[in-house]
Amino acid sequence: MDSNIRIPKHIGIIMDGNGRWAKKRFLPRNAGHKKGAEVFQDITRYCNELGLESVTFYAFSTENWKRPEEEVNGIMSLLKEYLIKAFDYEKENNRVLFLGDKSAFSGELLDLMNDIETKTADRDGMTLNIALNYGGRDEIVNATKEIAKNVRSGKIRIEDINEKMLSDNMYTKGQPDPDFILRPSGEKRLSNFLLWQSAYAEFIYMDVLWPDFTRKDLDEAILEFNRRNRRFGGV
Ligand code: IPE
Ligand code: IPE
Ligand code: MG
Repeated sequence: MDSNIRIPKHIGIIMDGNGRWAKKRFLPRNAGHKKGAEVFQDITRYCNELGLESVTFYAFSTENWKRPEEEVNGIMSLLKEYLIKAFDYEKENNRVLFLGDKSAFSGELLDLMNDIETKTADRDGMTLNIALNYGGRDEIVNATKEIAKNVRSGKIRIEDINEKMLSDNMYTKGQPDPDFILRPSGEKRLSNFLLWQSAYAEFIYMDVLWPDFTRKDLDEAILEFNRRNRRFGGV
């Protein structure tokens, strides 16, 4: 990419459109999720090459449990299979974090998630956040509970509560806020993604479905981001 282009520090990506991609091909929805997982892998590598500090992929929301059991089971087994076999976190220098309420997971999947987080904790490359059973509102509720506990135990006073403290109690603790949120599939909403962190993020939507998303599409999104004029409330 052109050297005059500003590369963002953190991009949030809502991986959407898997179902529609499959439907267009008369395939089961889970075929779309499978192809989507491959694209996730390639775009992660590309984010590494671009030199991002963080990238966050929205993989499963707190609301996605509402889907038919067959689809949810399919996504969970795909995830497990993927974390065991295909996910090349061994080769890349990424710190991997799973953002979300892990209490919904158990057994092998939870062990895998914890294992990957522990093994990659000291890496100094890009932070790869995978949002699983993630909800922005749920995250804010959790942060509130943590802070309330600290007030109750006398560790902090109510007057000490500030924005930094809230940020430090989010799953993304220590990471820069996203510069932009990217949503393929043509939808123009956040769907409960990174609510706290996106206060000043640019929102970029694209008409391509996630399983068709390419490195070139990410280039295009970064160019669009470069054309935006962020003011953060100033003039
Ligand atoms: C995103 O694709 C993947 C998940 C939410 C797990 P969708 O499954 O939402 O695809 P569409 O929106 O139905 O096309
Ligand atoms: C958001 O997509 C969640 C993920 C991509 C994981 P959805 O497809 O669930 O969002 P809505 O239902 O269209 O808002
Ligand atoms: Mg969708």
